[in-house]
Amino acid sequence: MYKAFFNLKRNPFEITPDPSFLFPTRRHNEALAALYYGVKRRKGFVVLTGEVGTGKTLLLRCLLQLLKRNNDVAYAYVFNGKLSPVEFLQYIAGDLGLPASGKNKSELLLQLARYVISRSQKQLTTVLVVDEAHHLSIDILEEIRLLTNLETPEEKLLQILLVGQPELDDKLDSVELRQLKQRIALRSHLASLDLNETRGYIERRLQLAGSPNAPSLFPPETIETVYRHGKGIPRLINTICENALIAAYAKQIRSVTPEIIDSVATDFRLGVQTHPMEGTTATETMNVQKAARTLLELYAHLQREHSRDEELRTPLRVRVIEHEPYI
Ligand SMILES: Nc1ncnc2c1ncn2[C@@H]1O[C@H](COP(=O)(O)OP(=O)(O)OP(=O)(O)O)[C@@H](O)[C@H]1O
Ligand SMILES: [Mg+2]
Repeated sequence: MYKAFFNLKRNPFEITPDPSFLFPTRRHNEALAALYYGVKRRKGFVVLTGEVGTGKTLLLRCLLQLLKRNNDVAYAYVFNGKLSPVEFLQYIAGDLGLPASGKNKSELLLQLARYVISRSQKQLTTVLVVDEAHHLSIDILEEIRLLTNLETPEEKLLQILLVGQPELDDKLDSVELRQLKQRIALRSHLASLDLNETRGYIERRLQLAGSPNAPSLFPPETIETVYRHGKGIPRLINTICENALIAAYAKQIRSVTPEIIDSVATDFRLGVQTHPMEGTTATETMNVQKAARTLLELYAHLQREHSRDEELRTPLRVRVIEHEPYI
């Protein structure tokens, strides 16, 4: 659809966390390095927090791609924090290929401990990754504390990565969990992007999507407007830019203007309204444009669904970063 119009090979602003689109800001690099180093050096317990949509799941996917290169790492990846303690342990066992059904909590814990110890004796690493960890109940966090006790004097036998929104920090700060908090070996936090990073982020995504001239598609004042509305949150930036491309395509203009960004931000109720729309004073024109945009959005959505189905049929192609600055 709009890809041909803007000479793009793929959609630049998908909101799915695709490692091939990673823009390595300093904070993203540091956070990924902490996760990677924590696992490789068997530090035990690592926590990553960040506001909604700042790239936590993306970093986990990057990490898992890196870890998959080494055959000595097995991991369980839990992305549903709303489980009961038994369900949580069953899920971990199942993900690690261990029998899980019909076992009670202590059987599951014992089995997991045996598995982790035997892997460690063979110099193999085992990782428990929990995304959306801010949803974990205190009970589950207490189970996790027990798992952090699996250790030798030199190293931890199970590497545990907890990743979640800032509420996770609050939970870990609570009195009940002070023992768990003391076991955290590395801790990092993802913040929103600043204006320069937002510019780099948008341009990198456009370049990776094949744009022959990213700065002319999103000129500096347009990027500033994106920054103002998106507040440097990558997921919001994607939503704004994706919809701005659809709107520019609907208008058949090859450069996204600040007014288009304002209009998209208004549609998405993003709050700040700085540039009033030009040339759209007639309600009728607005309505026609809105209807066109809605149709185009729907069409784009259906296309995304279709390509996602395709993706499920073919193995995920992932390229992390050529120069691996975080190792
Ligand atoms: N550094 C980055 N480079 C490229 N894309 C990024 C980066 N950071 C975030 N994104 C993109 O922003 C979107 C949101 O990222 P992601 O889903 O990882 O956020 P999250 O922190 O896990 O959010 P939530 O708290 O809702 O789970 C995704 O499309 C992701 O690819
Ligand atoms: Mg996430």
